[in-house]
Amino acid sequence: KRGGGKSKLAFTPIDPVDALVDDFTVPDGYSWRTVIRWGDPLFRNSPGFDANNQTAAAQELQFGYNCDYTDIIEIPGSKGRRAVLFANHEYTNENIMFPPEMPAEEVRATARAAHGLSVVELVRKNKNAPWTYVVGGRLNRRFLMETPYELTGPAAGTEFVKTIDDPSGRTILGTLGNCAGGTTPWGTILSGEENFNGYFVTPGTSDADRRYGLTPSPTGRRWEIDDPRFDTRNAGYANEANRFGYIVEVDPFDPTSTPKKHSMLGRFKHEGANVIVADDGRVVAYSGDDERFDYLYKFVSRNKVRKGNTPADRRANMNLLSEGSLYVARFQGNSVPEIDGTGSLPTDGAFDGVGEWLPLIINNRSAVPGMTTAEVAVFTRLAADKVGPTKMDRAEDVEPNLHTGKVYVACTNNTNRGVGSNTPVDEANPRTRNRDGHVVEITENGGDQTSTRFTWNLLLVCGDPSTNASTYFGGYPADKVSPISCPDNLAFDSAGNLWISTDGQPGTIGYCDGLFRVTLEGRERGRVDQFLAVPRDGETCGPIIHDDEQNVFVAVQHPGEEGSWGAHTSLFPDYVPEWSAPKRGEGALPRPSVIQVFPDERKRQGDDKPGRG
Ligand code: FEO
Ligand code: CA
Ligand code: CA
Ligand code: CA
Repeated sequence: KRGGGKSKLAFTPIDPVDALVDDFTVPDGYSWRTVIRWGDPLFRNSPGFDANNQTAAAQELQFGYNCDYTDIIEIPGSKGRRAVLFANHEYTNENIMFPPEMPAEEVRATARAAHGLSVVELVRKNKNAPWTYVVGGRLNRRFLMETPYELTGPAAGTEFVKTIDDPSGRTILGTLGNCAGGTTPWGTILSGEENFNGYFVTPGTSDADRRYGLTPSPTGRRWEIDDPRFDTRNAGYANEANRFGYIVEVDPFDPTSTPKKHSMLGRFKHEGANVIVADDGRVVAYSGDDERFDYLYKFVSRNKVRKGNTPADRRANMNLLSEGSLYVARFQGNSVPEIDGTGSLPTDGAFDGVGEWLPLIINNRSAVPGMTTAEVAVFTRLAADKVGPTKMDRAEDVEPNLHTGKVYVACTNNTNRGVGSNTPVDEANPRTRNRDGHVVEITENGGDQTSTRFTWNLLLVCGDPSTNASTYFGGYPADKVSPISCPDNLAFDSAGNLWISTDGQPGTIGYCDGLFRVTLEGRERGRVDQFLAVPRDGETCGPIIHDDEQNVFVAVQHPGEEGSWGAHTSLFPDYVPEWSAPKRGEGALPRPSVIQVFPDERKRQGDDKPGRG
């Protein structure tokens, strides 16, 4: 057990798990159990999960589907025994969720109710023990497609976001495509609206429609049949799609609060957003646009964070993301990239160079000729196109390391890079047909998070080094790392190690997706150790690393996605621990879940069933 610097979380890396294995694999000496599953009841009046008879009315009172971002925040004064769990619900897999005889209208309504967000209280017997969720917890909340969100920033109240249902242009119902996210220093949750375009039928004729992938084709879920706002050709709804694609902010400690959508951070396929406080007290948020050949963004607030935790301080801090400046990144290499198929480093021995944050909005004013501030906020991709940023290989999670201020960007893959007339390689995106992805490390000039200049290098060029010569692991010997492909979500442990969860390994290196620790500092920089693997067809999300307690949490998204009703390829998670055996009728189908991993000896400290609020 080495690597990981000073972290208390010691483990022997697991071997990669074959892509067809339906199991949740953890290191020797560790156990796992669910925190909460799709369909688990949240409120005292919630029906229990019933695989064969799910309804929209039941689902509205139950935990949603396909979590991506999660965090667990201890409730102050609880001595580590109570916490609040946040989880978002990115999308649904109707083919494996519902029996084929279920009426289409009921499928649509139930799947729609499985979207959104959840906040759930957790309890445990003592600090470090496994958590149990609380049915009827005071903070428990479901955010549905009918939940109102306050639109803030330059887009609020403008002609671009008004509809027949919201003539003020300030109140939006629902959130879509929530993917990664971040927890702010003031204790709120940010969540990114990513693939919102897939929920709308539009004319598809404008530059904006084309740039955002909005088309006249029927959507996959056909919500437009039941609700006219999902077809923007309907009278009064021309702007409905302009009301999605933002960073959402939620206060998990106030179940009556109105969540926000912050247009100052721009509108695109936000993977997520992560905040760091600059030395002068302003806050800086980083966010990637997860689309092939799209961009990396940074927001700098106008106002400074308040350190207190009074209601007035929290209110002020929840306005920080409404005013400020928005930038988009341009990367400049300093040598010729040569990795394309050869495995060699660039001519100067490193993928690295300098970069610049190009302004789109400066102090609430548009910096883009010919576009108003509101236009930049709503049509951010069109604005960015005008200033010449670097087209990236799908920037997923972007997260600053609070120990060093360095910023990490997971570029998950881009198989179109350099193919045909597509954009060729550059030093920051050096691989033609980039199947395995890479991780960029950014250092802001002078350690000033608000700087408009930075230096950068590639920390990882991912893949299986045993079969792929074009991999790089921060200079660490490639034959001593766990193979890793398609980096997606990022997190840090208390010792400042980077943790990466993956999405797509089965299709690239033939292994189940998983969670990996990357040592960043010292002689083992670039060392990659696999901690866990998720079941067949699943994606690893979350993750939460409470290494000081030796607890790790992940959300297993879309297990068994490739299967169908009656031919499920995964039965996760109810097939496993004997001390949480499924009830009759349960366990016959995969259920996306939040999972906790902990040392074996704590196995008996957890409860077998939910607590009562
Ligand atoms: Fe929802 Fe970019 O992953
Ligand atoms: Ca270089
Ligand atoms: Ca993702
Ligand atoms: Ca993903």
